[in-house]
Amino acid sequence: MRILHLTDTHLYGDDDSRHYGRIDTTAALNGLLARFTALRDIDAVVLTGDASEDATAGSYQKLHAILDPFAEQLGAQLAVVMGNHDVSAHYAEVRCMGARGTTVQDHVLDLPGGGRIVVLDLNVPGAGYGHLEAEQIQWLRDVLATPAAGDRGTVLAIHHPPLVAATAMLQSLDLDELEVLAGVLEDTDVRIVLAGHYHHEMTSRIGAVPVHVAPGITNVVDPITAGEREGSLALSGASIIELAGTADPAHDAAPRVFTSVFPNAGDPLADPTVPVYDFGPAEIRAIQEHAGR
Ligand SMILES: [Fe+2]
Repeated sequence: MRILHLTDTHLYGDDDSRHYGRIDTTAALNGLLARFTALRDIDAVVLTGDASEDATAGSYQKLHAILDPFAEQLGAQLAVVMGNHDVSAHYAEVRCMGARGTTVQDHVLDLPGGGRIVVLDLNVPGAGYGHLEAEQIQWLRDVLATPAAGDRGTVLAIHHPPLVAATAMLQSLDLDELEVLAGVLEDTDVRIVLAGHYHHEMTSRIGAVPVHVAPGITNVVDPITAGEREGSLALSGASIIELAGTADPAHDAAPRVFTSVFPNAGDPLADPTVPVYDFGPAEIRAIQEHAGR
């Protein structure tokens, strides 16, 4: 199974709004996808949330107007995950209800070549952190009780990484009750968890299951040099995930993950060295206080 992992497009319904007063997020997405003309053999395109910045119907229509034909020409299935900037009910009006018959966007996407993408909506309305409801946990247990068809396994796609974030600001926006999710994933055919939210690449595990966080498309956070600050650069990234099938001797090996980062095509300055934002301690504290916990 081969997946193109995209995340954090932060699209607007109108054409004039700019992310942090600077980034044209539609141009960022289009510019990134335009680099991928040589891509082949992709089974699924997975967007792990913050599809929209303003959560308008127009932003979701725009997202699908771009990603539907892109996935189709690759011969790939498209999975869209809700992030903390998304409003699941607005997305449901544009697309569909979730698998549990509500607007919560939990889905199972069976891939034609075997394997599946399970999408979970971890949104807490009005809050930045992520949470799994008891009914969702039960639904996930029920889904994972039966392995995916074709012995290619399951990919779990969520917005909030099931990890402890690299920076204090991002930790205030993390997913809670990680041990509950770890228990649900134990002894299942989930081979990797894909997530976004941090806007920077990160690799780890939840229990025995690998976790990959792809860099953002609207900007890329720098978790290494920021120190007490929190900064983001005018870059766009994406990852490829490769999972070997059971017939392959490499089946038990860790997934192969590649990540590329490019200058952001929606940056009018065309200068990745000028931060998109550079938060000091007071700004970080304000975000932490509004995280909704
Ligand atoms: Fe985001």
